[in-house]
Parts: sequence; structure tokens; C-alpha cells
Amino acid sequence: MDPSSTPHSAPPPAPSDRSRIPPFQVMRITDAIARRRAAGHDVVSLCAGEPSARPVPGSLQPAGYTGPLGTAPLREAIAGHYRGWYGVAVDPASVAVTTGSSGAFQLVFLAAFNPGDRVALASPGYPAYRNILTALGVQVIELQTGPETRYQPTPALLDAAEVEFGALRGLVIASPANPTGTMLGRDELTDLVSWCGARGVRLISDEIYHGITFGDPADPDRRGVSARALDPGAIVINSFSKYWGMTGWRLGWALLPEDLIAPMEALASNFALSPPAPAQEMALTAFTPETYAERDAIVADFARARQLILDAERDLDWGVAAPADGAFYYYSDLGPQLERFGSATGYAAELLERADVAVVPGLDFDPVAGDRAVRLSYAAGEPAIVEALERILRFQRR
Ligand SMILES: Cc1ncc(COP(=O)(O)O)c(C=O)c1O
Repeated sequence: MDPSSTPHSAPPPAPSDRSRIPPFQVMRITDAIARRRAAGHDVVSLCAGEPSARPVPGSLQPAGYTGPLGTAPLREAIAGHYRGWYGVAVDPASVAVTTGSSGAFQLVFLAAFNPGDRVALASPGYPAYRNILTALGVQVIELQTGPETRYQPTPALLDAAEVEFGALRGLVIASPANPTGTMLGRDELTDLVSWCGARGVRLISDEIYHGITFGDPADPDRRGVSARALDPGAIVINSFSKYWGMTGWRLGWALLPEDLIAPMEALASNFALSPPAPAQEMALTAFTPETYAERDAIVADFARARQLILDAERDLDWGVAAPADGAFYYYSDLGPQLERFGSATGYAAELLERADVAVVPGLDFDPVAGDRAVRLSYAAGEPAIVEALERILRFQRR
């Protein structure tokens, strides 16, 4: 029987309320770029947070399921990475390997929070935290941040949020952050850890951009301070996507406190059975001296691309920009350009249409003030940034 002729006497129920979350605009812009390229345009994309990919070893074998929290050798290797970079002892049994850090967020939020719990996070911020929490029925408390706190949460902002909304159950932080690139120093992170510790609030630290930082090479904290180094109860989330350039392999991890290991195992074994096995085999090559050197050379290229943007700040004639401490993002208010283009969405659309440069308007990251700002990703590297800056300046001179 032709399925399209199956009789329906009653319509299906409406899609769930929990699926009513906004899509990630960056992915839509990615579609628009693909269409323009297919039509023959030479588009410079400063949209995606995607570094150049790692070479694939020729030895990958066909593989079956692994344990729900990953293979023992990879969990041990990840624990070793914490010893090497941060001097922190991590029990491999507390490492959960996941399908990207995205998979870790879903499982950790499910394991840690009930519907109706309040969880705070910074705005502007990475939109998936807000949208995954919302889909799970968690009440998201957005802390509106700006240059005065380097776009990061502070105890004072958390106190004010509790007065306004009631007790919090969780706090999600990111350092370096997306879209701003700003970092929490050891003192600021210690203050947040203490604030959460004193109230039994779960701290979830997204450390996906650790290692993509531009501070003093002699500073022992230069790669970022791990919340795990300050509090064994902190939940740390990380990924092979950014520093290691393995976005499409979909592999990340979480470091869990003791009480969340069994709940995570129960959830992971039902939701995904296991993280992808070939990706786990590939990831075993991530923690060698050669791979760290290979990735640090790529970070050095990001540093040059970043400097080109910082050197062009005056000519760009935009507004206040976030301090670009790390990751590969430059997030700036458009300042005087707003008078001409009306909004960041308008600016980005015209820039793509007239100059074939793709940037991301800030609304994804900050529904309140984001339409004043744009995010440039310099993961595309130095030559792309040189070309994009030339085109942007020509576009603005018109
Ligand atoms: C701050 C942040 N966290 C998490 C992710 C998710 O990355 P993945 O699922 O590839 O690990 C991203 C991706 O851009 C990000 O910017």
C-alpha cells in the first residue's frame, strides 16, 4: 500500500513544547554560504568555529560498540592529559567519553538537573547551553554581562540573580568563551568555585577552547585554568573538536564528580549505547608530543590572524570589542556602523551580499543586546583574514 494514501482519521499531536527552541543561526548562514559558492561566488567565511582538520592515520580499523563511557585506553589517556597540562590527578573512571561536548552537555544536564531547576549562564554565550537546558525543562537564568566583568559571570551577578529568581541549582561557565573569547583568571574562577561550593550549586565548566589561548608562554595558567584543579566536584566538559581540530569526528568528554558517574553511565548506555569507536581510536593519537606540537603550530597561526584583526580595529571603526583572550573569536559591538546598517543582522546580510564575507550577527549568542554585535571567527587562518579585512573596509567605505 502506498504510505502516502494511509488514511488518517485523527491528526497526530502537535510537536512537543520542548522542541520549541531556536535553531542555531550559524548553521543557517553556513547554508547561505554554500548556496553562494554553488552560484560561483568566492565567499570568505568567518562564520564557523572550525580549525583545520587533523591528518587521519591509515590504520583505522572497523570497530564495534565500546563501553558506554568510552574505551579504557582513551579514558586513561584523557586522565593523563590532566596530569600533563594541569598537574591534576584524575581517576579514569570519572572520565565519560561522549559524542562531542554537545553529547556531554545533554547527558550531564540530564544527570544533574530536574525540570524546573534554575541554572545560570552568561549572555552573550554559546546558545546550545540555553537551548538544551530549555528543551529539558530547566529554567535558564541569563546573566547579562558586558565589558565591566569581561563578559563573564561574577558572584555579585549570581547573588543578584538569586534575589530576583530564587536559589540556583547550577552554573555553566566557559573560558575561553564563545562568542567573546574572554577567559576567567585563576582568581575569578576561584571566586565562582567558592560561591557554588558554599551553596551546593553544581558548576559546569566548558573548557573546549583550552589551549587556544594567546597569553604569556611563561605563565603556567596560559592554556586556561581547569575548574577540576580547584574543585574535584566541578563538572568539566571538553572536546576533541577545537584544539585538536576533530569537529566531524564527534568526540568529547566530561570529568564527573563521584555521584554522577553511575547516572551518566545509565543515561549514556541508553541514549547512545557508546561513543563512536573509530573516533576514539583516532583520539588516542591526540596526546603525544608530536600532536601537541602540531596543534600548537596551528594556534600560532590563529595568533597571527587575531593580531591582524586587533591591528585593524581603528580602521574598522566599530564599537567596544570583548578582550580576545582565547578561542578564535572576535566579538564586537558595531558602534558607528549601526547608524548606517540598523542592526548586526542587517550589516551581516549586506556584507555577504555585497562583499562575499560571512560573519555571524550576535543574536544567537545574546537575544537581548546581540543585534548590535558581530562575531568573526579567525579559525579560517591568516590569508582568509587578510582578504576579509580588505573586503570589509572596502564595503564600509562605499
Ligand atoms: C563553547 C562551545 N562549547 C561546545 C561546543 C560544541 O562542540 P562539539 O560538540 O563539537 O564538541 C562549541 C562548538 O562550537 C562551543 O563553541
